[in-house]
Amino acid sequence: MANQRGNWTQPAARLYPHQWLWDSVFIAIGLAHYNVNRAAEELVSLERGQWSNGMVPHIIFSRSTTYWLSHFVKIPLPSGIATSGFTQPPLIAVGAAAVSKQLTGRRRTDFIRQMLPWLIRYHEWIYRERTVDESSLAVIIHPWESGMDNTPEYMRILNRHWPKEGDLALRKDIGYTASDQRPTDREAIHMLAQAKLAKECDFDGARLMRTSPFIVKDICFNSVLVAANAALVDLAQQVKFKLPRELTTRMSRTRESLATLWDNDTNFFYSYDVKNKRLLTGTATVAGFLPLFADAARRQQAKQLVQQLRDPTRFGSKFPAPSVARSYKHFSTTRYWTGPTWINMNWLICKGLEHYGFTREVEQIKTASLELVAGDGFREYYSPLTGYGLGAQSFSWTAALVIDWLHTQTPHRNA
Ligand code: GLC
Repeated sequence: MANQRGNWTQPAARLYPHQWLWDSVFIAIGLAHYNVNRAAEELVSLERGQWSNGMVPHIIFSRSTTYWLSHFVKIPLPSGIATSGFTQPPLIAVGAAAVSKQLTGRRRTDFIRQMLPWLIRYHEWIYRERTVDESSLAVIIHPWESGMDNTPEYMRILNRHWPKEGDLALRKDIGYTASDQRPTDREAIHMLAQAKLAKECDFDGARLMRTSPFIVKDICFNSVLVAANAALVDLAQQVKFKLPRELTTRMSRTRESLATLWDNDTNFFYSYDVKNKRLLTGTATVAGFLPLFADAARRQQAKQLVQQLRDPTRFGSKFPAPSVARSYKHFSTTRYWTGPTWINMNWLICKGLEHYGFTREVEQIKTASLELVAGDGFREYYSPLTGYGLGAQSFSWTAALVIDWLHTQTPHRNA
């Protein structure tokens, strides 16, 4: 694997030459099938970026490469390692559970014991620093923390607050990838302004609650959190470790509260804008399917979601699932998170559909995804209509998740 850098893996050369949180988890899930020790290392390596308060950063910077985003997000730790001050969908415990399944006996328990203490501190940090009310739904302080950067409703929130013009001199991503496949200049200006604000506030959730225009209960982040909480409970049970009571109480509340992110008019899940106290129903995104991954949607809701996966005005397409609903006014087949199909989202949706027994739909998404890769290689994302490959080439999580699909059978359960 050309993207490996010792015990961690970069998402792609040039565009992403450092370690990203959820990329490493997807990568470990693939690696676990043919080099389980290396998969375990990939996850263990994330701990070196953990802050003393428990936060696990979305980027751990490699010493050997400079990066255009460093100026906005980079913070040196006392250990000498530099990280970003943001986090990402907290998928690590899910990866740890997948890796632990490929281990046996003492090696399994040792690995779980190595992962548990810092994962618990991470989940406790989420509940301590990133919840704002009784719902126990976590808030994100920047669109990057959703993993789906230029999500349309998020760009709308930032657009209302930040000036239209800004300094783009530092923007280097469009030097590596065609600019019509990346966020627009306006979106980039706003995301960088939001990052600057977060850095000025020392990435402190409480301070940002007062000053930031962007505080959101993100549906992807919270669905992943619910799945990761369940994985954490499972890992702890395997080594007979008792999780703190306060933590498990908060975990159950998050799971129950996902239901509040459902909209009865459109039969879909959305993120919630805490600052403006409203569900962001303006544009449905693929993240609305992820309560399936959390196994937290009701059966009837799951059926309604499946209908929208088939509906060509919503998420039905030759190569599902587009990152936003096709009815979106500025739907784009090429531009980053405003239309293209991403393999990690398809993988999460398939895992979710498996919980509900939608075997046929899982097979359809898998087959279409494998066709994308067979046609245009391990790309970062693809046109949902033509299958044309877009963004970075030799993209790590695309390769890793294809490996996972090729090694696992879809469990057959009745829908
Ligand atoms: C982009 C994606 C994010 C991913 C990162 C590295 O920022 O939006 O989800 O983790 O690239 O691949």
